[in-house]
Amino acid sequence: MSPTEAVRRLAPDDLAMLSALEQAASPAPWSPGQLRAALADPDTRVFGIEQEACLVGHALVVRLPFEAELQAILVDREARRQGMAGRLLAAVIEQARAWNSERLLLEVRAGNETALALYRRAGFGEDGRRHGYYPARVAGRREDALLMSLPLA
Ligand SMILES: CC(C)(COP(=O)(O)OP(=O)(O)OC[C@H]1O[C@@H](n2cnc3c(N)ncnc32)[C@H](O)[C@@H]1OP(=O)(O)O)[C@@H](O)C(=O)NCCC(=O)NCCS
Repeated sequence: MSPTEAVRRLAPDDLAMLSALEQAASPAPWSPGQLRAALADPDTRVFGIEQEACLVGHALVVRLPFEAELQAILVDREARRQGMAGRLLAAVIEQARAWNSERLLLEVRAGNETALALYRRAGFGEDGRRHGYYPARVAGRREDALLMSLPLA
């Protein structure tokens, strides 16, 4: 890992590059307005990871009354399988522990094998399923959401 690949908290000034990464790499991009609100929200943390001054990954976690929720994690296609998401997730878990959250929650498409492997490897367990929660990516059937959590307390 080079020193430029440290995880850092993103700030409102980082909106342009965060938005560019979402548009380029996310299957369901957050809008610039949603990202602006997240960067300004005191109960939200957005972490980013850069390669040669270019943002290649981010993760967004929200503080809830007793728990925290991972709402997004994304790595640029060319930067995948280099441990970026693992490092972002570690920062998110550290933040949730700093908030004294009892659990870190998330929802994931049941067919997103890549993300499921990431979460299982980090110790998340499956709590349930929401049938037909996500719209179909291509014309066809809606997709289930898996509800997962990592105990922190
Ligand atoms: C999911 C995603 C964030 C993973 O990012 P990444 O930086 O490539 O992940 P890492 O390199 O940190 O991988 C960590 C672990 O996740 C698992 N993993 C990641 N990509 C995988 C793949 N293509 N196939 C199988 N396992 C995979 C592995 O267990 C991996 O550990 P290993 O490389 O030691 O085997 C990335 O693929 C992505 O941005 N996908 C699109 C957005 C998305 O689906 N986000 C999740 C929405 S809930």
